[in-house]
Amino acid sequence: EGDDVLKARPPVVTVMGHVDHGKTRLLDAIRKANVGGGEAGGITQHIGAYQVHTEHEGIDRALTFIDTPGHEAFTAMRARGAQVTDIAILVVAADDGIMPQTIEALNHAQSANVPIVVAVNKIDKEGANPDKVRQQLTEFGLIAEEYGGDVMFVDVSAKNNVGITELLDAVLLTADAGLDMRANPDKDARGVAIEARLDKGRGAVATVLIQSGTLRVGDAIVAGTAYGRVRAMSDENGDPVLEALPSRPVQVQGLSTVPRAGDTFLVTAEDRTARQIAEKREAAERNALLAKARKRISLEEFT
Ligand code: GTP
Ligand code: MG
Ligand code: NA
Repeated sequence: EGDDVLKARPPVVTVMGHVDHGKTRLLDAIRKANVGGGEAGGITQHIGAYQVHTEHEGIDRALTFIDTPGHEAFTAMRARGAQVTDIAILVVAADDGIMPQTIEALNHAQSANVPIVVAVNKIDKEGANPDKVRQQLTEFGLIAEEYGGDVMFVDVSAKNNVGITELLDAVLLTADAGLDMRANPDKDARGVAIEARLDKGRGAVATVLIQSGTLRVGDAIVAGTAYGRVRAMSDENGDPVLEALPSRPVQVQGLSTVPRAGDTFLVTAEDRTARQIAEKREAAERNALLAKARKRISLEEFT
């Protein structure tokens, strides 16, 4: 890919943290702060990822958020070799302080080399102690700028919509400071399935994140062991999408079966190729399972 022409793409952000520290509520607040998001009163379909726009230093910027239940999906995707996240927002409730899953989440982000922005949430609550959170996290190598470090901490209240713009600014500053967020949109799309399900009327519906290239309705694709032609695409509001650029999450219809979270997908020139790749992968998976079963049986014979 020597003649790849790279263009700026939005950062992909995953929200992580301990149970009940406010990840979902924070994502709701971020979605509400969306500049120009024509969603008011509308019915939002469940989708595991969405894009918001914010004005940052006078410029309209897009950010992609992955709305995963905790960091389990993040771990599952990494286990399949898919690194989709550019930045992690670590949510810590200011009344609870750091908890076991806070540390787990930050370990995941650190071992994946993903920069962290800390959202100190629930500052509206009695007993909230945002400074204590900063102190606690220094022990784990996250030193706040105020303490002479280089990690941005932002005090927020997801409940009262406090600090949301500041948090988005901190994410964009962190992204712009150290990440190369570019991809070539002018080629066949590649990316990762974030989640997928079987819909009664629409068949297999997969939320995919484009990592490079542009995905279009009509493209032949293979995702894990699923294949097919993109029959329709829609965004987080259920509105139709005809083409999706890098960092864009879209729901895709037209796959033969339901892919798994973390499965990579790619566009092929012909339908036939997509099916062949899928069948090869399926055969490889079957053989791996058989080999495992044989090994177990032969071990049992010796014990
Ligand atoms: P899990 O997905 O179960 O891990 O939880 P979560 O981290 O997504 O937390 P969630 O957003 O569900 O919030 C947990 C509880 O905290 C809910 O009752 C929220 O309303 C409440 N909550 C979240 N943010 C705030 C906040 O800023 N202030 C206050 N007072 N409550 C909050
Ligand atoms: Mg939640
Ligand atoms: Na959550």
